[in-house]
Amino acid sequence: MNYITFNEKTKVFTLATQKSMYQMQVGAHNTLLHLYYGANVGDTEITYRIIPLDRGYSGNPEEAGKDRTFSMDVLPQEYSGYGNGDYRINGMELQHEDGSDTVDLRYESYDIVPGKYSLQGMPAMFGSEEEAQTLDVTLSDRLSGLKVHLLYGVFPEKDIITRAVRFENRGTGVVTLKRAMSVQLDYLNRHMDFMHFFGRHTMERLMERLPLHHGIQSFESKRGNSSHQHNPFVILCDRSTSEVLGDCFGFGLIYSGNFRCEIERDQYNQTRLVMGIHPYHFAFRLEPGDVFETPEVVMAYSRKGFGKLSNILHDAYRTNLIRSKYVTSPRPILVNNWEATYFDFNEQKLLDIAVAAKDLGLDMFVLDDGWFGKRDSDNSGLGDWYVNTDKIRGGLPKLVKQINDMGLKFGLWVEPEMISEDSDLYREHPDWCFRIPGRGVVRSRNQLNLDITRKEVRDHIMDSIFKVMDSANVEYIKWDMNRSVANVYSNALPPERQGEVFHRYVLALYDMQERLVQRYPDLLFENCCGGGGRFDAGMLYYSPQIWCSDNTDAIERLMIQYGTSFGYPISAVGSHVSACPNHQTGRTTPLATRGVVASAGTFGFELNLAELTERDKTMIRQMIRDYKKEEHLVQTGDYFRLVDPFRNQEYVVWEIVSKDQAEVLVKGVILRSECNPRIHLIYLRGLDARAKYREQETGRVYTGAALMNAGIPLPVVSGDYQPFVCHFNRIDD
Ligand code: DGJ
Repeated sequence: MNYITFNEKTKVFTLATQKSMYQMQVGAHNTLLHLYYGANVGDTEITYRIIPLDRGYSGNPEEAGKDRTFSMDVLPQEYSGYGNGDYRINGMELQHEDGSDTVDLRYESYDIVPGKYSLQGMPAMFGSEEEAQTLDVTLSDRLSGLKVHLLYGVFPEKDIITRAVRFENRGTGVVTLKRAMSVQLDYLNRHMDFMHFFGRHTMERLMERLPLHHGIQSFESKRGNSSHQHNPFVILCDRSTSEVLGDCFGFGLIYSGNFRCEIERDQYNQTRLVMGIHPYHFAFRLEPGDVFETPEVVMAYSRKGFGKLSNILHDAYRTNLIRSKYVTSPRPILVNNWEATYFDFNEQKLLDIAVAAKDLGLDMFVLDDGWFGKRDSDNSGLGDWYVNTDKIRGGLPKLVKQINDMGLKFGLWVEPEMISEDSDLYREHPDWCFRIPGRGVVRSRNQLNLDITRKEVRDHIMDSIFKVMDSANVEYIKWDMNRSVANVYSNALPPERQGEVFHRYVLALYDMQERLVQRYPDLLFENCCGGGGRFDAGMLYYSPQIWCSDNTDAIERLMIQYGTSFGYPISAVGSHVSACPNHQTGRTTPLATRGVVASAGTFGFELNLAELTERDKTMIRQMIRDYKKEEHLVQTGDYFRLVDPFRNQEYVVWEIVSKDQAEVLVKGVILRSECNPRIHLIYLRGLDARAKYREQETGRVYTGAALMNAGIPLPVVSGDYQPFVCHFNRIDD
C-alpha cells in the first residue's frame, strides 16, 4: 500500500499514517507550499486555505510578473531558502563563493522509495519496507546548482513522520552552509501554546507551557551536548489541549549536540517552527560534489492530548530507534558504587558491596568513576584508560572474575571524550584537546574536551577502552560526559573549516559509540552526561537507557521523570534507589518511596548495600521481586501521567497499562500528610471500559469505566512522602 502519493494533476503530495496526514503542493513558479499537518482527513486535498492577496511590503519574485498576490513573505512553505522575500525565520542560509547569500529553492523532482532512508554516520529511525516508506523531494537553487533533498520517512502504523534534509553541491563553486535546519513547519492562523523542557544540572527537563506570542520564541543548546538546560524536544498544541484531549504535535530531534528550536508567530498569526543544528559557530563548507545531511526530526501528531502523543513517541522509539537487544528484554538490576564510595574504594570495598548485592537478588555490579589512571579525585587521570592497581589490587580481570563467580554481571564507567591536564595522555599529547592557539582554556571540573574530531584521538581512546573490556568480562558500559564543550578549535582543520568542529564533534561521538555497539552487540549500554545532560533521541540509537539525572532525591525525581516522560519512553530512564539523607538535597524519604520512584524507569541502586539494616534488606528483596514482575510494563506498556507535579503539590501519581489492557499498575507518592485529611481521587486511563478489573491488594472488583470515571481514593497516610502502589488485573470472562 502507498502511504505517500503524488497527484500529478493537482501536484499535491499526501503522506498518510493511520491517524495523521501531511500535505504539500508544488505551487506557482515551482515553489513547494506546505498545505497541512494534522488528523487524517481522508481524500480531501487541503488546497483551499491559501488565499492570495496583495499585501503591502510583501515583495513578489520576478517570475510573478504583475501578480502582486504571490509573495514568499506570506505563503506557507515547506522549506524556505534565503533572501527571496520571505522575512520569517528560514530553514537554511549559506554563503556562495561570490559572497552573496540568496537561495531560491524551487521544486525539481521527487522519488518514493520503499523502507526508511538512513543518514550517513548519524542516528535515525529505521524501518523495513513493510513498516515505512520514504519520500525524497528535490528542490534546487538553479544559479548555484545546489540541490536540497527534503527527506520524509512515513511510518503508517506508528503515526510517525520523520524529516531530514540532504544538501548536495552540484555547482562549480564552494558554498558554505551557515544554517541547515532539519524541519520547517508552517501553520496557518492558529492560536497555539508551546511546551519545552528546560532545567539545569541535577534538575533537568522541567516542563514549561507558554502561549506563542508575536515574534520569535526559541530555546537552544550551544554547549556541544544537547544539554541539561534545554532538551531537543518540543510540543506545539492548541490552547485548550490537555493530557487527554486536543490537538498536539511533538518534534523530537535525533541529535546530541548544539541545537536550536525557533517558533515564530507572524503578522497574520501564522506560526512557523524550525528545529535543527544550532547556527551558532556553524559554517560547513561544501566543495563541488560534497553532501551534507542534517539530523532527523521525528514528528508525531495526536488529537487526544499529550498522553497519546507520548505513547506514540515512546512506541516509535522503542521499536524503530533503539537498537539494543535490551530494549524489550529484562535488564539486569544493578548497583552502582558512585554514591556508595565516590573515589574512595579498594577492591575489598567493592567486593563487599557485590556480596550484599548478590544476597539481595541484584544482577549486576557497576564500577563507576575512579578505577583508572591516577584518578583519586576528579582533578586527574581522564584519558588514562588503564586500571589503577593501587586501588584494584590484583587487577580488573581478577575482580571481575570474583564478581562473576558470585553470579553477578559486571559493568564499567568511562568518560571517553575528556582529558585531564594531570594525565599521562595529556603529557604525551597536549595538542589532543580543544584549545584555541594562543588563548587560555575554559576548564570545567578541571578537565578539557578531547578533540575527538581527529581520527587518531578516537582510535587511541577506543582502543584503550576496548583493551580493558577485552581483559575482563565487561557486560555493561556507562558512558559519561562531565563538562560542556568549549575552546572549540581543532588543530587538524584549516581556518575555514573551524565552523565545522561542533558538528564534527557529534559525528565523532556517534562514530565512537557505533564502534562500541558493533564490537559488543550484547553489551548493555547506558549513556550519561552528568546525569541528564544528553538525554536525547540521538543517544537512544546507541543505548537503550540514559542516566536521567545526578539528582537521586525521590521527590525531585518526580518532576524530572514527569518532564522526561513527555518525549521519551520510561524504559530509557536510568533510575536508582539511593541513600538517605539524600546526597544532593539532604532530604529523607522512606525507602519504599525511593523504590516506587526508581521503579518508574530502569531500576537500580546507588548506595552501599553492605551497610543496610535487616529491615531495609527485607524491603529491597521485595522491591526487586516486584520490579522483575512489573518490568515488562515499564518496557512495553502505555504510560499515563495522572497528576502534574508542577500543579499539584500534594501527590504525584502515574499509571502503566499493558498493551492488551489486561494489567494495570498505578504508583505514586503522597507528598504531604494532612490533619483532618481531604480524600483525593485518582482517575485511571487507558482501560477497557467494559471489562472488569480486580485490585490485587484488596481483591475488590471494578469495571474499567468505574476506575476511569469514578476514580479511586488515595489512601489516608501518616507522614510525608508516603508511597502509593496498586495493581489491577482484567478478569477475563
Ligand atoms: C556524573 C555521573 O552522572 C555520576 O553518576 C557519576 O558517574 C559521576 N559523573 C562520576 O564522575
